[in-house]
Amino acid sequence: MAYSAKIGPSILSSDLSCLGSECVRMMECGADYLHLDVMDGHFVPNLTFGHPMVECLRKSVGQDPFFDMHMMVSRPEQWVKPMAAAGANQYTFHIESTTNPGNLIKEIKESGMKVGLAIKPGTTVEELAPWANQIDMALVMTVEPGFGGQKFMDDMMPKVSWLRSQFPSLDIEVDGGVGPDTIHKCAEAGANMIVSGSAVIGSDDPRSVISLLRTVVAEAIQKRSLDR
Ligand code: DX5
Ligand code: ZN
Repeated sequence: MAYSAKIGPSILSSDLSCLGSECVRMMECGADYLHLDVMDGHFVPNLTFGHPMVECLRKSVGQDPFFDMHMMVSRPEQWVKPMAAAGANQYTFHIESTTNPGNLIKEIKESGMKVGLAIKPGTTVEELAPWANQIDMALVMTVEPGFGGQKFMDDMMPKVSWLRSQFPSLDIEVDGGVGPDTIHKCAEAGANMIVSGSAVIGSDDPRSVISLLRTVVAEAIQKRSLDR
């Protein structure tokens, strides 16, 4: 089985005045990658940061941490080259934000980044499916994108299960409201890349939370491989 359990804290819920040290702290607590939420105040009703911040973060944390850029922006084409130059590793864009996903996938690959394709809760998984063989990761949003700390949407799990059944080796990420209370549902459905913001960052013991999330997902992956 090609995929493994990976936990990516979303630093949106951290003290944004100390982003560099928060990223280092998450890596030291066992994070497998960092999920960085870019919002433009247009695709979603909130603003965060762009490529200049990513460039500074890269300098601050070194070459190793994997940056998964969650691009909640209206014109994702515009930021591919700047994000690659800033040190992003994966460019995860929303299918709802572009009329030409195929061309964007090509541009992201040419820029040397991995490709993530995200769907909002109102978007069906059938809209993502035609692209699944060309991407590195599918992101099934489990909240409406825009804010951390929202309630996990159980009813997104059939999308994850369907994707897992159709694309057995695809990386499948979930994002929004995921923590110790909801991880079992994500793991059973077949997600393997787990974004967790407030549940990890807000915890007194982020290391234990990250470890617990990874264990639950790894056990589900193992069970699936035995059942095959
Ligand atoms: C929401 C973002 C998420 C968010 C997750 O639009 O995409 O990455 O930070 O935070 P929690 O885990 O608190 O829902
Ligand atoms: Zn996100």
